Amino acid sequence: MSSRSALGAIGIATFVLALVGYGAVYEVAYGQAGPAERPQLAEEVFKNVQILRGIPVKEFMGTMGMFAASTGMNCIECHVEEAGGDWGRYADDTDLKRTTRRMMAMVTSLNKSMFGGRQAVTCFSCHRGVNRPRVIPDLTVQYGDPIIIEPDEILAQDPAEPTPEQLQVANAALDACLALESPADGDRDRHTADAPPA
Ligand code: HEC
Ligand code: HEC
Repeated sequence: MSSRSALGAIGIATFVLALVGYGAVYEVAYGQAGPAERPQLAEEVFKNVQILRGIPVKEFMGTMGMFAASTGMNCIECHVEEAGGDWGRYADDTDLKRTTRRMMAMVTSLNKSMFGGRQAVTCFSCHRGVNRPRVIPDLTVQYGDPIIIEPDEILAQDPAEPTPEQLQVANAALDACLALESPADGDRDRHTADAPPA
């Protein structure tokens, strides 16, 4: 397995983890509310939300999945280990959570000052799946076979026809990414895994 496909696998595992966790939160956030009511916002459900305020819980959890996939950390590595068995403990602050808040402020300010507010830079732009971004370019990449990066890279790796379950997981993971990329309108350019390109 190449390191790239290993990264892909970690990314998928992280998203699946995020989705499993999200199910639990979904119950809390939407359990009592009727379908017509507006979704609860992150700060209404969670205890210690300082930056990611004013977005629905679903989008908030999509952002967590994006943090995890971008930095190569799983949920409890950035939070505390106890959060694995107790959702309330996700509110505990850690040095990594504090660093992450500074990173969010940096990304927002970069996009604002350099890219007219467009979501041009994301966590992944620098991190590429590792907690400490690399400082020096990798010459084996520069002189190796060209790497073609496509948005459907993960799906394309599976030569077999994806099962409906796999499609569902992949769609949910893509939705999570898109929710972060365009918070105002998650459905605009919605990618779909239903029709992989031939
Ligand atoms: C790289 C660090 C990082 C990773 C990885 C991460 N989180 Fe977070 N998480 C944060 C930060 C930072 C906040 C606080 C956000 C804020 O203040 O706006 C937070 C807040 C939360 C909260 C709200 C807790 C509360 O009550 O205030 C939950 C729940 C949560 N994360 C779940 C998860 C789950 C589940 C995952 C794995 C998919 C995950 N997080 C991955 C950094 C991370
Ligand atoms: C412009 C490049 C850049 C962007 C964009 C960026 N980071 Fe970072 N991040 C860094 C660098 C560089 C370091 C390592 C700093 C150091 O060595 O002290 C770092 C460190 C971190 C760490 C600490 C890792 C550790 O093990 O100590 C976390 C967590 C983190 N970033 C999360 C994020 C998140 C989440 C985002 C998106 C909101 C993000 N970063 C966006 C460059 C970036």
